[in-house]
Amino acid sequence: MKTPKKLTNRLQSRKDNNALRSLTLPSTLVDFSSNDYLGFAQSETIFKETHQYLINHNFNQNGATGSRLLSGNYYLYNDVEKFLSDFHQTTSATIFNSGYDANVGFFSSVPQRGDFILYDAYSHASIRDGIQLSNAKAFKFLHNDLEDLEKMLKRLRPLDCAQGDKDIQSNKEMLNQVQHNNAEIYVVTESVFSMDGDSPDLVAISKICKKYNAFLIVDEAHAIGVFGAGLVQKLNLQNDVFARIITFGKAMGCHGAAILGSKSLQNYLVNFARSFIYTTGLPPHSIATIKMAYQQLRLCSSEFEKNEQICIENPQNQLQKNIHHFIKEVKRLQLNFIPSCSAIHCCIIPENSTVKLISEKLHQNGFDVKAILSPTVPKGKERLRFCLHSYNSTEEISEVLEFLSIFVNN
Ligand SMILES: Cc1ncc(COP(=O)(O)O)c(C=O)c1O
Repeated sequence: MKTPKKLTNRLQSRKDNNALRSLTLPSTLVDFSSNDYLGFAQSETIFKETHQYLINHNFNQNGATGSRLLSGNYYLYNDVEKFLSDFHQTTSATIFNSGYDANVGFFSSVPQRGDFILYDAYSHASIRDGIQLSNAKAFKFLHNDLEDLEKMLKRLRPLDCAQGDKDIQSNKEMLNQVQHNNAEIYVVTESVFSMDGDSPDLVAISKICKKYNAFLIVDEAHAIGVFGAGLVQKLNLQNDVFARIITFGKAMGCHGAAILGSKSLQNYLVNFARSFIYTTGLPPHSIATIKMAYQQLRLCSSEFEKNEQICIENPQNQLQKNIHHFIKEVKRLQLNFIPSCSAIHCCIIPENSTVKLISEKLHQNGFDVKAILSPTVPKGKERLRFCLHSYNSTEEISEVLEFLSIFVNN
């Protein structure tokens, strides 16, 4: 069968830019690339406990059999959603089939025509795809730049919040204000950015949102597990955030996602989020794995929080130790990394061909570190992305960074 010319042209242009993607199989190299931050995806305990749980509770069905609104809902879904809402100190948790589905479902359905979405310029593709499907107007603010965010909010709600700020109270602005009187404003950010590993000042963002009467949404995909129940809870902001997106495919080591928020938000999503409605639900095995992974996380987190001198094998403790060691080594070797306290650390190496070459050299030396190419990141911001895990050793970290230091300096 012939391939349409436009498709071959696009593929060729990817090749010409050194940016053609292809699928590879898992390697036996030292893992600095997966999102399995706590090793839960490989946990025999979680695997066995899930199996036993399904047997004990007579879940002998392989598939959900339909959309959750038709035949695909079952009691384990409700049980795990209740567990998640308690664990995350909120009133509802709505499970979606993936984080991608959750973001697309939320942003395509919640903001309405006439509303505004202000999103961080580095927001994940799933957030941006959801926004594209929305009828609301969307504007991006500079990455983690609260001044830029506030400038936009001021423009959208000039009189509410800026009394005394004479220069913005022009006729035009007043007109805008009237126009936007009924408009809701949604502000979206990530607690850990997937391509940079950095975090916004969530306390300050939530204050700004309160001041301008905007709804805050935080995607916690890369914070869950790495920072216990996530950064929103760590900062005690759960009551100041309208919705949190949590995903289970990263530190939780399984699959799926949930949107945390109010009961009425849940009711709305079940009625209007098309990526929730028009798809088959997850099989019982997936939902049971989420439950077992969370039980494991609860165990680690309570150990972690109770005592600094905890069991050396606690994966949260191991991960934190590795993050500290990585940061210390980056400083010692004077490498150019984006500042980060999370499990994601990125070294900017401009040009697809250069970053690819260094990633290949690290591969040849036994380390799986992925090159993130443009157009996934802006041109000139190509990078090596290191994902750190509880199961990396400090020796592996020192070794891979020593190699990197040699390769970038040659
Ligand atoms: C910030 C962020 N949100 C959402 C997603 C999507 O999650 P999932 O892999 O469960 O579809 C990802 C995954 O890459 C992500 O990094």
